[in-house]
Amino acid sequence: MKPFMKASYSGDVTTLEKENLAVACQAALEGMVLLKNDHTLPLSTRKVALYGPGASRTVKGGTGSGEVNERHCVSIWEGLRDRGFEVSTEQWLSDYESLYLHTTAAFTQSRRKKVSLLNLNASFMKVLFDTCPIPLGRAITEGDAEASDTDTCIYVLSRQAGEGGDRKMEKGDYLISDNEEAAIRFCARHYAHFVLIINSGSPIDLGFADRIPGIGAILYICQLGTEGGHAVADVLSGAASPSGKLADTWAKSYSDLPFSDQYSYLNGDLENEFYKEGIFVGYRYFDTFGVEPRFPFGFGLSYTDFSVDCADVSVLGSQTHTLVTVANTGNTWSGREVAQLYLSAPEGALPREFQSLAAFKKTVTLHPGESQTMDLTFDLKDFGSYRESDGCCILEAGDYVLRLGNSSRHTVPVAVLTLEREVILSRHAHICPVTVPFEELQPPVRPQESLSPDLPRLVVKPKAFHTVEYSYHPTEEPSDPRVTAFLDSLSVRDMADIVVGDGILSGDGRFCLPGSVGNTTSKFWDKGLANVALCDGPAGLRLQRRSTQTRSGKIKVLDFPLAGFEYLPDLARKYLMGNPEKEPVLYQYATAFPVATALAQSWNPELMEQVGNAIFREMREYGCTYWLAPAVNIHRNPLCGRNFEYYSEDPRLTGRMASALIRGVQQESGYYVTVKHFACNNQEDNRTAVSSNVSERALREIYLKAFEPAICEAHAGAVMTSYNKINGVYTSNSPDLCTSILRNEWGFDGVVMTDWGATDAGRADSALALHAGNDLIMPGTKEDKKSILHGIRAGTCTKEDLRRCCGHVVRSIFDSATQHEYIDCSRK
Ligand code: BGC
Repeated sequence: MKPFMKASYSGDVTTLEKENLAVACQAALEGMVLLKNDHTLPLSTRKVALYGPGASRTVKGGTGSGEVNERHCVSIWEGLRDRGFEVSTEQWLSDYESLYLHTTAAFTQSRRKKVSLLNLNASFMKVLFDTCPIPLGRAITEGDAEASDTDTCIYVLSRQAGEGGDRKMEKGDYLISDNEEAAIRFCARHYAHFVLIINSGSPIDLGFADRIPGIGAILYICQLGTEGGHAVADVLSGAASPSGKLADTWAKSYSDLPFSDQYSYLNGDLENEFYKEGIFVGYRYFDTFGVEPRFPFGFGLSYTDFSVDCADVSVLGSQTHTLVTVANTGNTWSGREVAQLYLSAPEGALPREFQSLAAFKKTVTLHPGESQTMDLTFDLKDFGSYRESDGCCILEAGDYVLRLGNSSRHTVPVAVLTLEREVILSRHAHICPVTVPFEELQPPVRPQESLSPDLPRLVVKPKAFHTVEYSYHPTEEPSDPRVTAFLDSLSVRDMADIVVGDGILSGDGRFCLPGSVGNTTSKFWDKGLANVALCDGPAGLRLQRRSTQTRSGKIKVLDFPLAGFEYLPDLARKYLMGNPEKEPVLYQYATAFPVATALAQSWNPELMEQVGNAIFREMREYGCTYWLAPAVNIHRNPLCGRNFEYYSEDPRLTGRMASALIRGVQQESGYYVTVKHFACNNQEDNRTAVSSNVSERALREIYLKAFEPAICEAHAGAVMTSYNKINGVYTSNSPDLCTSILRNEWGFDGVVMTDWGATDAGRADSALALHAGNDLIMPGTKEDKKSILHGIRAGTCTKEDLRRCCGHVVRSIFDSATQHEYIDCSRK
């Protein structure tokens, strides 16, 4: 029987595509951060020399599951031309193109040789996430410079990273290579106006910029998705002023980061990662330990100047309102500013970070002389510290200083909030005990700060808070008569079928979404349970662009949903490939949005909601039920291979931006986000076995913190556990995480699923996963089903566990749009 499908038989550009491109372009515009500008930008000419690997092959996003297969990606070269620039280095660029094609083809061939048909799965998985190192291009010559006939030059330095491997603290990755440095030096010397563009998903060492005179401007574009080239051209020309702010601290030197030499592969131990810095992550470390960053968290220049002033501070219960007036004090350019409010807690019994982000707001576009007053609000109850000794989250008595500015290092104190006595905000059961003890970093004593006696002083009354008491209990089966009746009709084996997913290259389901990375089972379609599709993110929806359908209904590919599929041997590729001459072609074009870090750099939750809305519309268009995003892991170290998929080093910025995105995606019932990777997936090397050893306090205050609003406020429909262990226990096997935190403390009511293959041999256990509260094993295998049934016999999981997990999955599917469209409607 032919599957149901929503892919289109027409490849024409749709209105949805056009509308989503406009959102992607706006997000790209707001996601760039201007790091340096000696009046070089905006450019005063339309004729430019353009060099560097990212000029014609601008990296739009990272590799692996975070890839998005858009119709077309606009490079910086193309974007400049489209916006009316004359790019006068055609020869260098076309030489680069030939080199690029040659290098990538050779790399693909080398990977194909590593995959054996005899041992297809295992050998393919070893190379699936390998990516071709980005070629640098030939040396730029005097002849190139002369022929370019302009005094203005742009060099695009690019980096690529992706899942399955961390970045390297080496030349060519975190450090620039000698040849890159030579090329940049050449451009800075030969051109009067020189702009360096950094096209990398996370920071690189910018020490070279101190050594090379003549770099007039540095623009950190991160990785901007489909419309990046146009957005970059608009910023270079001055059609838009940059308004992005860093979501991370950029260190002067890698060694300035805490325990930098012990991260991931660097200390030779990939089995255990010790989070010795505790809560002192990112600016929390730099600011508390007095380390000068190269660029602070929250930093970003504009083409104009702003003043950021406090008009009033008031307290209402536990809520603080700060009225802030931002004015464009420049004469020429319009722009947008982000007002940022930081809070310093008093030094008490628990060591605290010097300050943490409390609230922020971005202005509308302000023309010269215009101003805007905004209310920056936060609730002091969100600023508690976790006291491990008694499991209480507390606010210590003392003075809380509010600081206002436009980066973490550019603030002034604007008010003091006084809390007369300690408040216990909540009492918790302990979770994830440390099994291999280690010492956590202790901060120095903070120097006494002399605050102006004129600062407004406000009192926060302890009675404004009440203590939350959690009750910890096994989760109950969903109380929904439809679900109960359905579960009653199933055998234990049937339930095992439902809690184990299906297929990576879809086509076996009754509902089929080409390019989905998994499905739930379609075995029970005739009994009234749809199969639903799960598709990757986070930079958009990862689908198969073009597929064909054979006469029997089987889906074949014309483009692979993941670049790594190109490494399959000829025979295997041929088997998967369709024949567009003989079979009808199906089209699905999705938008590649800027990567999460670039989105976070917009500091614009409203924009995030629009991006979420755009993704929702594509989910609805193609029938995706679970979007496997957003990914809210914390940027613990700049070398993490997946940082581009994550937002920031700061859990509050991450939580707010991700929650706004979730509201956009889940605006209609029946479509779910899947917040991932829960939790502490901060390292990619050996990600399926490494144990993230972390104190309960750092876990709660930093690493779980961003998940909390995504679940409690934005009501994420699903959560994906991570591959790694926390303190020796696989996250999917941890009742502390999957039940105590998610369901008991946060009231999560959706589906918890594993990461892909997390229960493969030698990894987490699928029966223990169900027992812990991880409902769905993805994509799952026959082995998982066997292991669940065996677990029930052996007592590692009960029939009630299985029934409860199955109930969560069934309820979520019953409420899905796919179920409604294909099953509920057909029954009416
Ligand atoms: C990644 C997940 C992704 C899944 C499905 C895994 O390798 O860690 O983030 O959603 O694959 O593609």
